[in-house]
Amino acid sequence: MSQSAVPRSTWSNRWAFILVTIGSSVGLGNIWKFPYMAGSQGGSAFVLVYLICVLLIGLPLLMAEILIGRRGKGNPVSSLLKVAEETGNSSWWGVLGWVGMLGALLILSFYSVVSGWIVDYLFKALTGFRVETAEAARQSFDTLLGNPYQMALWHTVFLVLTVGVVARGVVSGIEFANKTLLPCLFLILALLTLWGCVAGDMPAAWHFMFDFKLADLTPVVALAAVGHAFFSLSLGMGAIMAYGSYLDRKTSIAHTSLWVVAAGMLVGILAGLAIFSLTFRYGLQPDEGPGLILQTLPLAFSHMPGGGLLAIFFFLLVLFAAWTSAISLTEPFVAWLTERLSIHRPIAAWGTGLAVWLLGLASCLSFNWWNDYRLFGLNLFDTLDFLTSRIMMPLSGLAIAIFVGWAMGRTAVADEIRLNRHAFTLWLNVLRFLVPVGITLVFVFRIFGWME
Ligand code: PFF
Repeated sequence: MSQSAVPRSTWSNRWAFILVTIGSSVGLGNIWKFPYMAGSQGGSAFVLVYLICVLLIGLPLLMAEILIGRRGKGNPVSSLLKVAEETGNSSWWGVLGWVGMLGALLILSFYSVVSGWIVDYLFKALTGFRVETAEAARQSFDTLLGNPYQMALWHTVFLVLTVGVVARGVVSGIEFANKTLLPCLFLILALLTLWGCVAGDMPAAWHFMFDFKLADLTPVVALAAVGHAFFSLSLGMGAIMAYGSYLDRKTSIAHTSLWVVAAGMLVGILAGLAIFSLTFRYGLQPDEGPGLILQTLPLAFSHMPGGGLLAIFFFLLVLFAAWTSAISLTEPFVAWLTERLSIHRPIAAWGTGLAVWLLGLASCLSFNWWNDYRLFGLNLFDTLDFLTSRIMMPLSGLAIAIFVGWAMGRTAVADEIRLNRHAFTLWLNVLRFLVPVGITLVFVFRIFGWME
């Protein structure tokens, strides 16, 4: 496999790696999807299963993915090929890298459309937009969905922001952007949570998210929570592998992974508490679904003192989270183009951006002009979401668990992961048994659920 002559970049230090990986993981998944899924899927039952899945399935897989990237020191395809070759395995494992890279681009195409909605609402907040009734809030969202030009405009803006960062390089682009955006994100989140404590109904939000009722724990809720654990940790799509490939040998993979998982959980919980405390304070419903932060919250903002300012902060928070995740979705393929085909990074990044932009346009149209074109009842946007989060991510996660747990061999894995004996055995066994069984169960249930 040919490698470019340019020396590979390395993150400035271990905190830079922790930060960029948190940036990848914390995104629309934590701030947009987690609260609305918790809101519509039984609240605390969903939260509990999600937290358990993140720890039992997500954390071991996150470590495995970083491990492959760091050992292979290349884009997802070349990393897998190199590690497979080194450990005497078939080069077919390289296919896994392709699934990840292409999956990441598919996700990016619709992720950018949703992020475009966020930019639209940020723009509205900056121009003093208010909605007085639930009907008006719904109408304003529907108007956006019905207008492909407006959606395409914001989708373009968001993608340009994302590709602009990736084009600048690993350290001066990706690391720099994360180092700037994430501290702002945490500051805004702290502010919003405080605001929720002062102006919202925090006890109600707390009970909603943490009062566990067994009756709410249905298989559907459990499945949704497992799937979400994957999405929110950016697993199986090559993003973490690509970031891991720029990590030096000294840093502990386990330690950094713990930080990433903890930060992701904290952001989801704080965002949920902030959002629900305001939702309940204004007597609104938590189970609005995807419209929770685009319909319910704007209504709450419009009714509270200082709500205009709060809305600006809130949408900035979501934008920053989405931006840092989108960057990580772009990097794997760009890394492949630069390393395998020796294409100059800016050209590789803008070229990738163009392809994703076109696919994203199709997603924009799937809400209006092309709404009637459906596959199994889903429009293109939902089909891409289904294909990536429900099929590609779990299958790819399963393959990674098998590769690291069974195929790579104990010695190479132990050499890379460097845990003490007990912790290593525990982690390896979880990866070998619990993770594959867990994913297979979810997958089988999902397929049956889907076919019913
Ligand atoms: N983890 C991101 C979120 O929660 O929004 C989404 C994501 C990023 C998924 C990168 C997959 C990925 F490779």
